[in-house]
Amino acid sequence: MSKDAEDLAGLKIPGHVAVIMDGNGRWAEKQGQPRTFGHAVGSQVVEEMVEVASDAGIKYFTVYAFSTENWKRSEEEVSVLFSLFAEYLQKLIVKSTKNNVRCLVIGDRGPLKKDLIDVIEELEEKTADNTGLTFTIAINYGGRDEITRAVRKIAAEVSEGKLGPEEITEDTISDRLDTAGLPDPDLLIRTGGEERISNYLPWQLAYTEFYFTDISWPEFNRDELVKAIIKYNGRDRRFGGVK
Ligand code: IPE
Ligand code: IPE
Ligand code: MG
Repeated sequence: MSKDAEDLAGLKIPGHVAVIMDGNGRWAEKQGQPRTFGHAVGSQVVEEMVEVASDAGIKYFTVYAFSTENWKRSEEEVSVLFSLFAEYLQKLIVKSTKNNVRCLVIGDRGPLKKDLIDVIEELEEKTADNTGLTFTIAINYGGRDEITRAVRKIAAEVSEGKLGPEEITEDTISDRLDTAGLPDPDLLIRTGGEERISNYLPWQLAYTEFYFTDISWPEFNRDELVKAIIKYNGRDRRFGGVK
């Protein structure tokens, strides 16, 4: 066994890990740098962590890159973030093809620029048949917005007579969310010290284990992921039952 794998030996690896990558701006400001420096470093950390997650045996890795509320930030910060996304996604096409990673993007694409939508579509198409890690990036994602869009789809199907109100089940809803086809997360990690979900996957996190850390996203690494997995192994998941 490689030394790298030793610390995970015998641990149950969560199948789906979701991450709220927070703390970029504060981390940069602490060092007298602009907030956008934190985003640039954060984007390199995502790149590394996709490989780490895949090597650890995680099957689904889902990260929060931009929320529907993040438009409230300065025009400059938003514009730097979107330039980083375009650059990062373009690189991801090449990397994921090489590493057998399937990539998906969730969130409302409506307000995104056509160039970015084109890159997203190319990324999803070119990696669709990859059989390794499924890596999902949430861009302009808000859980309430996602549920609202799902409810609209269901209402349209009902009004067209394709679906009866009594036929609506939890699966009807899950299947119309952006995450359709993905299992619910087993573990949610939030970096940056805040302990809230900030509109991230509210439907999907119903029975997820939460792990909060003060470490900022630009400082996150394999050792920090291992710590989260160790904590996860100490949790007793009862799903409402009795053990
Ligand atoms: C997370 O870091 C990245 C995005 C929300 C885009 P922040 O930018 O929120 O950094 P802090 O929380 O202000 O430090
Ligand atoms: C959540 O972080 C969104 C992302 C990490 C993309 P925020 O920094 O936007 O969340 P709040 O404002 O602290 O709740
Ligand atoms: Mg933040």
